[in-house]
Amino acid sequence: MRILAIETSCDETAIAVLDVTGSKKSPVFQPLANIVSSQVAIHKKFGGVVPNLAKREHQRNLAPVLLRALDEARLRKPKSQSAKSKQISKSQIAKIEEIFSHEPELLKNFKNKILNLPTPDIDTIAVTHGPGLAPALWTGVNFAKALSVIWKKPLIPVNHLAGHIYVNMIRGKIISFPALALIVSGGHTELVLMKKHNNYQIVGETRDDAAGEAFDKVARLLKLGYPGGPEISKRAKSGNASKIPFPFPMINSNDFDFSFSGLKTAVLYKLREIKLTQEAINNISASFQESVVNVLVKKTIRAAKKYKVKTIILGGGVAANKNLREFLSKETARELPRTALLLPEIKETTDNALMIAAAAYFLSKKIGPERARSLSADPGLRLH
Ligand code: KG4
Ligand code: ZN
Repeated sequence: MRILAIETSCDETAIAVLDVTGSKKSPVFQPLANIVSSQVAIHKKFGGVVPNLAKREHQRNLAPVLLRALDEARLRKPKSQSAKSKQISKSQIAKIEEIFSHEPELLKNFKNKILNLPTPDIDTIAVTHGPGLAPALWTGVNFAKALSVIWKKPLIPVNHLAGHIYVNMIRGKIISFPALALIVSGGHTELVLMKKHNNYQIVGETRDDAAGEAFDKVARLLKLGYPGGPEISKRAKSGNASKIPFPFPMINSNDFDFSFSGLKTAVLYKLREIKLTQEAINNISASFQESVVNVLVKKTIRAAKKYKVKTIILGGGVAANKNLREFLSKETARELPRTALLLPEIKETTDNALMIAAAAYFLSKKIGPERARSLSADPGLRLH
């Protein structure tokens, strides 16, 4: 099965092609293309992602990113073949114009760059339909729908968070069930119990800010750049966590929920008392990071014990954090030596489309091009 996947839920325009052979039990994944066009430089000046700017950038980037992905996967057929390529019917054009009725620039780029391409050798198209920023999600969903119409391929709508879980399988790792996934990203912090593929029960989640969001907000307080996670972890290396200690919110609560907004407030109050020297920035970074990492790891281990899981899975942008990876590895080995721990490759922790393709492989819910036209973006989509 060859899957072309599209991801536009936030500020990365990403398209990947993934080949899958073998069986559902032990699939063999071979990435053929993985293109990510990041908009970080554009959103940086605003200190966070601006949804309508993200939409504008996705409209500009989707067609060129698709061409790059097809080139990288060697799926772009030569011009000679495109000359005698399929005729696009008037009714197909009408459908595409309707699909892109809110994205005129994307329609123009689609007509100029994509419409006349020969159909590439793929079996299905996967697309993130939620959760995420509505205007951003819609560009990817509509782009996928239009491709489905002209290439006559089925669509698989994918939950972005399932992607952060399944990215772990691309490099040959296997999930033994029951499994517990800790998803930590800019928008989500969730502990998810999986009894089998595509079966999700949220057993804990944040009551306010997501872990990544907390990193981003504290970084802003410390006048560090965006995104905050990498900046804070860099500063933390030179800091001393015990100099300016912060609480470990909800570490002993009787549930698996999290809360990080109080920690951000604690940083804010501390900054009113002290001078923001380089040393203070480093110490606060180290201490804040230690609080977040401790709470995440301790609660994950406790939930893993309660549900007697065979695998712990880490996913999401914050999974790039070295301290989190190291402490989770150490505690899993110490407390649950027979439980496998899956850590994603650091370069695959932040948003990409390979993860969407991998998750799509385990979904049998393909929808044909006609039904696909009514697919909606679902900004608040939850794992269930
Ligand atoms: O998964 P992701 O790329 O996008 C969402 O789906 O939200 O996650 C982005 C988040 C940002 O909040 C960023 O600050 C955080 O991941 N992040 C990190 C690190 N690298 C990225 N947080 C902590 N430490 C890191 N090294
Ligand atoms: Zn993400």
